[in-house]
This record gives sequence, C-alpha cells and structure tokens, in this order.
Amino acid sequence: MAALDTLWDVILVFACCLGSGFLLANLQSRFICNLPDSRPKVAVEIGIHLLTTVIGFFILIRAALHEGQLFVGFPGWPILSLVWFAYLGVSLAVFVGFTLIAIAKRIRGPHQEPGIRTTVTPAPFPTRVQPPLPQVNQLFDLEVVEIEIEIPGLDPGLEGLTVGNLTDFHLGRVCNGGYVRYAVDQLMERGPELLTVTGDFVNYPIYLEECFQCLEGCAAPLGVYAVRGNHDYWVGAEETERRIKNQEMVLLHDRAVEVERNGARFLVAGVESPWNQAGVPFDFIPPDSNQLKIVLSHTPDEFPKLARQNPHLVLSGHTHGGQICLPFYGSVVVPSNYGRKYERGFFRQGNSLLYVSKGIGCHPAIRTLCKPEVTLFRFV
Ligand SMILES: [Fe+2]
Repeated sequence: MAALDTLWDVILVFACCLGSGFLLANLQSRFICNLPDSRPKVAVEIGIHLLTTVIGFFILIRAALHEGQLFVGFPGWPILSLVWFAYLGVSLAVFVGFTLIAIAKRIRGPHQEPGIRTTVTPAPFPTRVQPPLPQVNQLFDLEVVEIEIEIPGLDPGLEGLTVGNLTDFHLGRVCNGGYVRYAVDQLMERGPELLTVTGDFVNYPIYLEECFQCLEGCAAPLGVYAVRGNHDYWVGAEETERRIKNQEMVLLHDRAVEVERNGARFLVAGVESPWNQAGVPFDFIPPDSNQLKIVLSHTPDEFPKLARQNPHLVLSGHTHGGQICLPFYGSVVVPSNYGRKYERGFFRQGNSLLYVSKGIGCHPAIRTLCKPEVTLFRFV
C-alpha cells in the first residue's frame, strides 16, 4: 500500500506540475500572444515562463519536504492555504482535461474532411546552418502540402484551378533569406495559377528589404494577392504595404476582387482585422453569390464571423501549427482567442472551410513535432 501511495503521490505531483504549465500557457495563448510586441508584453511573457518554472519547482520541493504529499497547507495562513489548494485543484483539472482531449484525438484519428485529398511531400532545406536545439528542432524540415478540394457546383471554367499559399515567413537571422527563398521556390515549381500570401513577412524592420528580395519573381498568371498579419502591423503597416505594392502583389485590405479564368469569374477577398481595426464588416463578400469565394485572413480567429458570408475557403496562418508541440499532448501555446481550437488543418462551419497553414517560418525560431509548409490547392 505504501508503494502504491508513493506511486500515486508521484503521479499526482507530476500531473499538477504539467497542469500548472498548461494552465499558464493557455492564459498566455488567449490573452497575451495577440497583443502588439512591446517591452511590457515581453516582460509579461518572460514573467509567465518564470512563474511556470518557479511554481513547478515549488510543487516539487513542497512534495519532497512532505513525503510526497501534494495538498499541504501553510500553517497559520488559512487564506494562502485556500488559494494554494484552489490553484492545485485547477491545475489538476486542466491536466485531466488536456489528457482526455489528447486521448479522444488519438481514438478519433486524424480529422478527415469529405471531398478533400491531401498529399504531403517532404522537402527539407539543405543547409549547414544548425538551428537552435538541432536534435528536436524541425525549423527547416519543410513540407509541400498539396490539397485537392471538391467544390459542389464548381463552374466548369474553374475545373483544376490551382492556388498556392505562402504564409508566416518571419524572415530573420535564423529563418534566413536562403531558407525563405527555397520554400518559395518549392511552391513556384508546382506552377500555381494564383498565389496568395497571408502575412507575417518579418519580425523586425531591418529584414524587410531581404524578405521582399526573396519574393522577387513571385508571379502567377492570375495574380498574387496578399494580406498583412499582426507582425506586419507591428513592424510598420505602411512600409509593408508599400513593399507589397512594389512587388506587384495586390493588397486585399478588407476588400475583394474578381478574377477571371476560362470565362468564369471567382472572388478573392482579404481581411486584415483585428490588426487594422476590430469589427470591420465583411459585407464586401456577398453571402448569396454562387461564385467561388476564397478569403485570405492572417488569423483564423475571424473564421466564425467570416463563415456568415459563406466563403468556400478561408486561408489562414498565424498559429504556426502550434509550433512547439509535446509528444501525446500536442501544442501548448497557440496565439488565438480560441486557445488550441484552430491550431492547424481544416475546419468547417456551414458550407465554409477554413485551412490553417503551419507556415514557413516561426517566432521564436524553434519547431518541435510541427514541420513548416507551403501549400497548393487544386479545385475540382
Ligand atoms: Fe506568424
């Protein structure tokens, strides 16, 4: 019995440490990640990481001092004891919730949307530059994801239309120009008829010049369409706009354009909320039109609202697929008001599909169990 007690105590302490980490990471995902880059934000994020570590050690040390017992109060401090017990209880509940979700995902298997066929081709970037933590870092393990989507009632003039998507370059010191250009070339070799770019070009203004140099020659017969992401607004919305336009890309700043192919017309729209302004009406996307409608939105958080306009496909990035994922549990921090819901892949609401790309680069420059991607869609 004593041995079982010991094992149970160890499991409980381990669960509590992990649950506390998940809890704080979730709070960071929902309330901190989407705030503009600033010193206070960085300070809060460092504070959360420190707090996670300190609380984890505090739980371990107290358990060690009390023969593995987790729920031990502070003699003479009833309120503090109550707060501590409440925190431990919530941490355990979060651990159980995360574990049940992970088990359910395992049992359910990968999410399969009807009418969608996906092919993934590994295309790792051949580089001698070692990323940080090279044993686990998948920073340069690029994948080319090719997706065929059946659209009921698709205009015959749009049969076989191919659309390439590039997102979240985050060009910087580690995700350098060589890698970004290589990723862009992987998609361009597949010859997309239309190219979309869904934001987050760089993290710092000094890399803007190099990033747009990497995009030189990026052209497609039906045009290149872009929206800006949160980092583009933080780095400089006007400067990024100027460079997008110099590159002969069409900036879809809360507007839509019609594109023609084989006599058939379809709609490409772009939204930049909430980074430009939260609550912008999406009435430039006609909900009743039977035209094929493709919408670019850097963040997937706009999808529930966008779905009211009945787009066929919304293309997003922003989450980097969760970026740092743990075995079994998956992602920990996802910058979304919906937590981990829109981490990566396909989501459906009514007749609308959302695809969240894992993106090309990331910030900070580490990916675990989450390979970067460029994406090619083919409509049939
Ligand atoms: Fe991003």
